[in-house]
Amino acid sequence: MKGLYVLLMFVIASRSLCARETPTPFFNVLSYGAIGDGQTDDTNAFLEAWQDVCGTVDGIPTLFIPRGKTFMLQPLLFQGPCKSAYIMIALKGIIIAPHSVEAWKWPNNERTAWIQFWQISGLNIYGGGTFNGQGAPWWSKYLGSEEINRPTALVFSGCENLQLHRLTHIDSPRNHISIGSCNGIIISKLNIIAPETSHNTDGIDIAHSSNILIRNSNIQTGDDCVAINSGSSFINITGVFCGPGHGISVGSLGRGGEYAMVEEIHVRNCTFNGTQNGARIKTWKGGSGYARKITYEDIEIVGAYNPLIIDQHYHPNGKSESTSSTAVEVSDVTFRKFRGTSAQENAIQLNCDSNNIGCTNIVLDDINITNVAGGTTKASCTNAHATSISCHPYVSCLP
Ligand SMILES: *[C@@H]1O[C@H](CO)[C@@H](O)[C@H](O)[C@H]1NC(C)=O
Ligand SMILES: *[C@@H]1O[C@H](CO)[C@@H](O)[C@H](O)[C@H]1NC(C)=O
Ligand SMILES: *[C@@H]1O[C@H](CO)[C@@H](O)[C@H](O)[C@H]1NC(C)=O
Ligand SMILES: *[C@@H]1O[C@H](CO)[C@@H](O)[C@H](O)[C@H]1NC(C)=O
Repeated sequence: MKGLYVLLMFVIASRSLCARETPTPFFNVLSYGAIGDGQTDDTNAFLEAWQDVCGTVDGIPTLFIPRGKTFMLQPLLFQGPCKSAYIMIALKGIIIAPHSVEAWKWPNNERTAWIQFWQISGLNIYGGGTFNGQGAPWWSKYLGSEEINRPTALVFSGCENLQLHRLTHIDSPRNHISIGSCNGIIISKLNIIAPETSHNTDGIDIAHSSNILIRNSNIQTGDDCVAINSGSSFINITGVFCGPGHGISVGSLGRGGEYAMVEEIHVRNCTFNGTQNGARIKTWKGGSGYARKITYEDIEIVGAYNPLIIDQHYHPNGKSESTSSTAVEVSDVTFRKFRGTSAQENAIQLNCDSNNIGCTNIVLDDINITNVAGGTTKASCTNAHATSISCHPYVSCLP
């Protein structure tokens, strides 16, 4: 009798437990006809699965992409808003782009992105899988003398509460991940890998977005590991290993007279190994607005070419600059606790604009950068309103 009672209680308990548990409806792309042989176009299967994921009301619908398979996808759009407040994409396998430039099929010849996520809230992509943009044939591709428009691998726009965890991104034709008009993002344990010689293959590019945390990731690319563009604020980056690449950059800002706004950017505990730049703030002449409240702290430098640089005369080809006298104001910037080696003598560069709103309240504190080749290092500055505390090389160029 007592045994039955215990059993009964157990059944009741587990029943009510089940009832309270949120169901996790899985939508496996294989059930929608995806083949996953790396050749067949699986785009439609993914889009059909997405319709069901995005239309599901109960639980946390999950788009499931199984391990051990390679899914070839043409440019596609995962469109929101979705019915559920949370959506998961479990990427266990590999998603691969078409193998040649000619093999890409563009819905309306807009060569902007490979995979777009539009207006999706609460999206979490995780699972140890890979996005392979097959960028190599794009990197050297020209139409006549013009370089052709190359697509970004993943574009997230208009998102709220996005998470990306444990994913590998390789060989994008252009940026690996672009984030625009988003709020609330956590990114961790990404591996982003493209050759040092691949142009414009930024790791993570952020614009018009706020409240972002990027941590514990490894980024090796041919351009900026992370680039923070106008309209971005409250962005923390920590535990990122960058190199090869062009560093973690604020900007470029103010191109073509842009009014730029960037503030509250905090980069901490990052390593730059063999990069072109380390901590960099770059603005074009002729822009306006501000880049302020920026800290780079606990930074390890291993043979970076420009370990610490503010450049208010940025121009990638060194072409003629705007004659406008305006500038994006750079202020309240702290570089603290830098250790390591520079690949050239000029380890610290504060190249500020000549007018009064150039760069103000720049603090260099506890810095020791030596020359990787055993020579000396120096600091150079123009128009910099900065203070330095315990800094090697000694910043003798400050007023
Ligand atoms: C971002 O960094 C700032 C400054 O270090 C810190 O005050 C803030 O709590 C951090 N925010 C997050 C979400 O980590
Ligand atoms: C610094 O980043 C590394 C990853 O590169 C991480 O393992 C370590 O825990 C971080 N340390 C601190 C103090 O945050
Ligand atoms: C820097 O990169 C080189 C070449 O990839 C590697 O051998 C070395 O271990 C790295 N150093 C650090 C401190 O991570
Ligand atoms: C700077 O670093 C070098 C190499 O690690 C070291 O020999 C030197 O003592 C350091 N200088 C200061 C002022 O800490």
